[in-house]
Amino acid sequence: MNTSPAVDALVRRDLSHLWHPCTQMHDHETVPMVPIARGDGAWLIGTDGRRYLDGISSWWTNIFGHANPRLAAALADQARTLEHVIFAGFTHEPAVALAEALVRVTPPGLERVFYADNGSAAIEVALKMSFHYWLNQGHGEKTRFIALTGSYHGETLGALSVSDVALYRKTYAPLLLTPILAPSPDAYEAEPGESAAEVARRRLGELRQLLERHAHEVCAVIVEPLVQCAGGMRMYHPDYLTGLRALCDEFKVHFIADEIAVGFGRTGTLFACEQAQVTPDFMCLSKGLTGGFLPLSAVLTTAAVYEAFYAEYSAGKAFLHSHSYTGNPLACRVALETLNIFHDEPVLARNRELAVHLAARLAPLRDHPHVADVRQTGMIAAVELVADKAARRPFTPGERRGLRVYLHGLEHGALLRPLGDIIYFMPPYVVTTQELDHLVDVAMRGIDIAVAG
Ligand SMILES: Cc1ncc(COP(=O)(O)O)c(C=O)c1O
Repeated sequence: MNTSPAVDALVRRDLSHLWHPCTQMHDHETVPMVPIARGDGAWLIGTDGRRYLDGISSWWTNIFGHANPRLAAALADQARTLEHVIFAGFTHEPAVALAEALVRVTPPGLERVFYADNGSAAIEVALKMSFHYWLNQGHGEKTRFIALTGSYHGETLGALSVSDVALYRKTYAPLLLTPILAPSPDAYEAEPGESAAEVARRRLGELRQLLERHAHEVCAVIVEPLVQCAGGMRMYHPDYLTGLRALCDEFKVHFIADEIAVGFGRTGTLFACEQAQVTPDFMCLSKGLTGGFLPLSAVLTTAAVYEAFYAEYSAGKAFLHSHSYTGNPLACRVALETLNIFHDEPVLARNRELAVHLAARLAPLRDHPHVADVRQTGMIAAVELVADKAARRPFTPGERRGLRVYLHGLEHGALLRPLGDIIYFMPPYVVTTQELDHLVDVAMRGIDIAVAG
């Protein structure tokens, strides 16, 4: 790979000055850095002309394909009109229209929109807003959050505080708030003979016990609805969300739904919460919101939350959280165009067909001697590799089996980026069934190579 002089030069310049996220830079002594020149639909095209099918939507952001012409046109038009304006005391059409549209398409009861500029920042906003709501209501004793085991909500200090993926959290633990961890309703953890719905019920029982003990000091329960993504694409039954809504009401704590990864059609419905017919107190959105074009996030909340902050200035109840790029017009305009695409095109119906195709192609892997689980929720599918299928014993992490799948993918025109030994598929919605076939074929061969020896 990376054989042309132009490619080598770009990589050398990169490695001279850049520091990449989620990367041990030393790995690049052996793992190639891939210079990308342009994107085209579901494909990324290297500076040497090599093509990679983006099987993970570039960290789950790109839902309508790279260099999408509609989103590009909206962005260009907005750039010629208004690129940015301070969002305190000033407003603009794209921000207002996007808020109206988000209120229209999200579950009923979410009426207020607060913008931030990435997923982690949205989580910070939701955590602070929930805490501040209770403070404004005279409940300053509520300072803690309940999160699920295996959860991931981002990597700024607040978001990392409510995350439970050791890889990201362990090193920084001394800096973090201590959440109360409730056991995840992850269906992979089912007892023999137990259905996903039964796991959900059992885990709700355990959450109830935690709330009985801690509700007085808890602001909110935060979850990734239906799929815990970075924690390993762990999936659970919608009944958990229904039960969670009821428990939050009963124990007077907020329900924060982090739909940053699962929102915008990923799980089969526009928002995952719809599958449980629940309205959370806060819904965090980002990633697909701008189709992967620009960083933007939004926190939606209820009139009841908003009203708890609405008072004379002297009462000191205003919400305080400001980013320079809040409500950026370019990002808002692209997000509006993203919602227009959902409105104009049968995206969810097409996703359902793609999901059926993907499921059929992955089904044979269930019989693979090193595959413990093949699971899928809409346009997210995951294959769990293990050393011992019967005992579900994982491979030793240091063996980095998933990395072998990644490297095989790069050699054969596919961007697959396993989470440890979990190979997952989260392609842009513009992918064709033939392209899905390519992705699965490459992954299957990569899996055989990765588990050998
Ligand atoms: C569920 C979830 N929440 C929050 C985040 C953080 O978003 P960002 O990477 O934009 O900070 C992520 C990112 O992967 C995510 O998957």
